[in-house]
Amino acid sequence: MGAIKYMGGFETVAHIVRDLDQSFGITVPIAIHLDHGDYTAAKAAIKAGFTSVMFDGSHLPLAENLEKTREIVALAHEQNISVEAEVGSIGGEEDGIIGTGEIAPIDDAVAMIQTEIDFIAAGIGNIHGRYPKDWQGLNLAHLKDLTTTLDSMTHSQVPFVLHGGSGVPDDQIKAAISMGVAKVNVNTEAQLAFHQALRDFILTDQDLIGKNYDPRKLLAPGVTAVETSLAERLAVFGASSH
Ligand code: 13P
Repeated sequence: MGAIKYMGGFETVAHIVRDLDQSFGITVPIAIHLDHGDYTAAKAAIKAGFTSVMFDGSHLPLAENLEKTREIVALAHEQNISVEAEVGSIGGEEDGIIGTGEIAPIDDAVAMIQTEIDFIAAGIGNIHGRYPKDWQGLNLAHLKDLTTTLDSMTHSQVPFVLHGGSGVPDDQIKAAISMGVAKVNVNTEAQLAFHQALRDFILTDQDLIGKNYDPRKLLAPGVTAVETSLAERLAVFGASSH
């Protein structure tokens, strides 16, 4: 929601992404997805032509989270838009929504799946932002319990979303993927790569050369660093075509 405000609103973003997709002749499928939307934002994204929304009601009482998720699912599915929802908040802070890093109760996840969402985010010890030094790692045993229970109850394989992907060791991410995680959210790592590249550029006085004061030139090393960082992540996740 913070990014939407920064970038000029839902319609603007939907248009920019569609236009870029077309003008660059992009050949991989692209989703226009709202991450961690509240009820109002999720509805606005659906209206603006996003192809996917996350309704994050994880901070609400479970009954209210389920009820609002059901409403969003009904609205979204009418237009072939996919819905992600969350039970058991993810640790750390994202857009003012602060989680305590709890482990999602299995019963809550079962109830959430029954709202007919398309993918589920469930806390397994993951945290947004930088991981603290004493972090215990992903609780893969809990992920296994979650996926086993959900599969046996619903006979459908609802994909899991791993939030807080930055800084999770590769072997843990690969193990989570092998257990049913199909989407990994990564943000902080890209931001840190951007920041480091920009610091290097400025601290070596390269910003003082020629017209490097032009924001397109000044910020270019940061953008390249984000591309490199994400390409490396895609390869680890097995999502790269290269
Ligand atoms: P990180 O910033 O920790 O990578 O988390 C991103 C995320 O989960 C966005 O929803």
